Amino acid sequence: MTLRRNLLRSLFVCLVVVFLSLTLVYNRLNFYSSGPPIPDGVNLQPSFSQENNAIDKSKDAYHLESSFKDDLHAAPLQLQSPLQSAAKQISPLSQATFIEEMQSEISRLRQRLEEMERKQASFEGHQNGAQLFPPLSSSSSSRHHQQQQGSSNNYQQYMKTKQLPYSEKKRILITGGAGFVGSHLLDRLLLDGHEVIVADNFYTGRRLNIAHWIGHPNFELLHHDIVNPLYVEVDEIYHLASPASPPHYMMNAVKTIKTNTVGTINMLGLAKRVGGRILVASTSEVYGDPTVHPQAETYWGNVNPIGPRSCYDEGKRVAEALTYAYAKQERLEVRVARIFNTYGPRMHVHDGRVVSNFISQALQGRRLSVYGEGRQTRSFQYVTDLVEGLVRLMAANYSQPVNLGNPEETRIADFARIVLDLVHGYAHIEHFPTPVDDPRRRRPDISLAKRTLHGWTPNVTLEEGLVKTIDYFRGELRLSLGQSRNSNGGRSSVET
Ligand SMILES: NC(=O)c1ccc[n+]([C@@H]2O[C@H](COP(=O)([O-])OP(=O)(O)OC[C@H]3O[C@@H](n4cnc5c(N)ncnc54)[C@H](O)[C@@H]3O)[C@@H](O)[C@H]2O)c1
Repeated sequence: MTLRRNLLRSLFVCLVVVFLSLTLVYNRLNFYSSGPPIPDGVNLQPSFSQENNAIDKSKDAYHLESSFKDDLHAAPLQLQSPLQSAAKQISPLSQATFIEEMQSEISRLRQRLEEMERKQASFEGHQNGAQLFPPLSSSSSSRHHQQQQGSSNNYQQYMKTKQLPYSEKKRILITGGAGFVGSHLLDRLLLDGHEVIVADNFYTGRRLNIAHWIGHPNFELLHHDIVNPLYVEVDEIYHLASPASPPHYMMNAVKTIKTNTVGTINMLGLAKRVGGRILVASTSEVYGDPTVHPQAETYWGNVNPIGPRSCYDEGKRVAEALTYAYAKQERLEVRVARIFNTYGPRMHVHDGRVVSNFISQALQGRRLSVYGEGRQTRSFQYVTDLVEGLVRLMAANYSQPVNLGNPEETRIADFARIVLDLVHGYAHIEHFPTPVDDPRRRRPDISLAKRTLHGWTPNVTLEEGLVKTIDYFRGELRLSLGQSRNSNGGRSSVET
């Protein structure tokens, strides 16, 4: 499509150049022929004066040349000037016909070029999936989206982003930006008016999570594994790349350790080279199975260094150690967020964590699997609260680790009942043995976050957040059921 368009454009330009050259030659000839001495038998003066339109040919020729330089597309319009009619009067009929033919050919090509450009624009619109994957948004951002659709902006299909002055606009890298948390952070930073580069190897992330930004001038997607060095020019780095759920990080334990150690070294090295600030996403798992409750940042944790979760827990502990080694040795500006259990739309339906397990089981009318008696507690933070905390932490004047989580503690058995109520499900609860190293209690102490992040505190209630998440899961399950029916060659839809 692009090749054809380029060919047409080149042809169009060539024709314009040929046409203009010919016209200029005529113009020159006319100029010399109309100036003294006037050749015998040719008297141009009367025809010009008859039209009461004295033409300064040299001026016209200059005008034509400069307009050609300024705007090739506008050139054919300039040819409707008095120069043309003058040329007609002094030229043989065949030459005038030739000019007219050239003009009609040029306008035909011009129409085709415009048609191709229109087709290409609509093709690109389909490719970026604007209609297919409308952004998951709060009511205010969907309002923005509708406003934008009504505007005459070229980027109608995107949510409306702020226009920041050059001095405030940052170029920001998000590693793992196609994942659950990263994609929400991407929305926030783009809406705030910054330029964002996402680097992701799609190990657990999905293009679908970020498809609504593809093609936007402030967004760039790099398919990149951070275990390899990355060279980009940025002001800030949010380093989120790492699988986060136990089945995902245990699936390839060595890779998880590499991502959190080698990958983190690469990102710290990048921050050092560009002189930018880096925020490293750590986790409440650095506290292991805590003996102190609730967990404050001063607690050093209780981690089994050789257990099945150690690839992640110890990987993140090394990532923190590396971060502060770079801060001390290289004077790097660092931020560390210890993130507690977070949920919301775009989380993996099959990530094996309690929120996704319970919601998908309840929606499918299956028994909810509770490990042990269900007396263990978790605290659940809605994803937009986390994103707010991350953005504030990056901007804050505080470089030690900060807990970001919701301090409201819920017993797993109670959580199962809340989910069942919201889904209006009648499924039962099934008890299973507790997995190895499963923490019994988890609740963040967020007093440091409140102090250092200008009063940050989670404000989405568990019910509110669950309603949005359940809606998302409904859509995902419908999609995956549809896909499995299709993958069956459509047999089930025919036979049943
Ligand atoms: N979601 C939570 O509850 C939670 C809790 C604590 C900490 N965290 C941390 O937050 C971050 C984001 O978690 P999430 O829930 O969005 O997980 P996620 O799995 O949805 O996203 C992680 C992203 O990182 C990408 N990734 C993994 N390895 C990579 C590599 N080597 N190179 C490039 N990209 C890579 C994945 O493809 C994915 O897009 C992680 O660092 C995680 O440890 C999350």
